[in-house]
Amino acid sequence: MVKLNNDVNIPELGLGIYKIDEADVERVLNTAIEAGYRAIDTAWFYKNEKALGQALNEINIDREELFITTKLWNDFQGYEETIKAFNDSLESLQLTYIDMYLIHWPCPEDELFIETYKAMEQLYKEGKIKAIGVCNFKEHHLEKLLAETEIVPAVNQVEFHPIFNQKDLQAYCESKGIKITAWSPLMRGGEWLNNPVLKEIADKYNKTAAQVIIKWHLQQGRIVIPKSQNDQRIIENFDVFNFELTEEDLAEIDSFHTNERQFRDPDEVKIGDMK
Ligand SMILES: NC(=O)c1ccc[n+]([C@@H]2O[C@H](COP(=O)([O-])OP(=O)(O)OC[C@H]3O[C@@H](n4cnc5c(N)ncnc54)[C@H](OP(=O)(O)O)[C@@H]3O)[C@@H](O)[C@H]2O)c1
Repeated sequence: MVKLNNDVNIPELGLGIYKIDEADVERVLNTAIEAGYRAIDTAWFYKNEKALGQALNEINIDREELFITTKLWNDFQGYEETIKAFNDSLESLQLTYIDMYLIHWPCPEDELFIETYKAMEQLYKEGKIKAIGVCNFKEHHLEKLLAETEIVPAVNQVEFHPIFNQKDLQAYCESKGIKITAWSPLMRGGEWLNNPVLKEIADKYNKTAAQVIIKWHLQQGRIVIPKSQNDQRIIENFDVFNFELTEEDLAEIDSFHTNERQFRDPDEVKIGDMK
């Protein structure tokens, strides 16, 4: 567990469910819960909040043990729109409160993220959200947010993997009490997980490259939310609490950094341009 800046605890390893079809959510959730996951990361944009709500209803775990994150979609930025979108997500998820609610993208050109965040502060004060935060905020977005709002975000969820290792942003966030959550922590898997350097590190511990990368995130103080819809890989990704990377291993993985984003630059995302 990681303690956020408002003393709320969040599991450091959760399951991301972007691109998981509604039809697969129940199976995926059951496998994840069985494997030990208690945190699930979804978003309005993922179109699986309803299915997650139904699946959560069926499992036999105390609500307080679970940590459910969802996100305010770009198209709903603005004070009133945020309150409405939040209530819609709450209903879809069949919950009475959400553990963490995040602004999905800053959409800086639209200049609505301050109002949006103020609505989230209100919902937080009403007890409907346990922790509020943001995604894809660069330092200059955070500077503005911190200057113009009251509650310091608990989390900034950003693209973070060995190729695009945002250490400076992490250091800045940590100096403000904001935790980094790494999205696309495995850089969406695929061929690059066969990298021989990763394989060599993984072999030393009888682990996989994916497990090594997840551990790299955890040992460097990031919350991490790898996505998988494959039962075996869901289990594999959680089986990372019985080994420790050395400083040399961490440095080798750090050296993969090329500073190349694999996904969109947050400054360029505008309301309405992602469907
Ligand atoms: N806030 C944001 O803007 C934002 C943006 C993107 C993502 N996210 C969140 O972050 C989560 C994770 O990011 P992501 O889904 O983009 O990418 P990711 O977790 O880096 O990678 C997921 C991909 O890797 C594969 N994979 C997973 N475990 C594996 C393993 N052990 N070995 C080999 N391949 C493996 C998965 O395939 P299988 O499913 O077939 O296993 C899937 O194709 C998302 O689900 C979402 O919750 C947030």
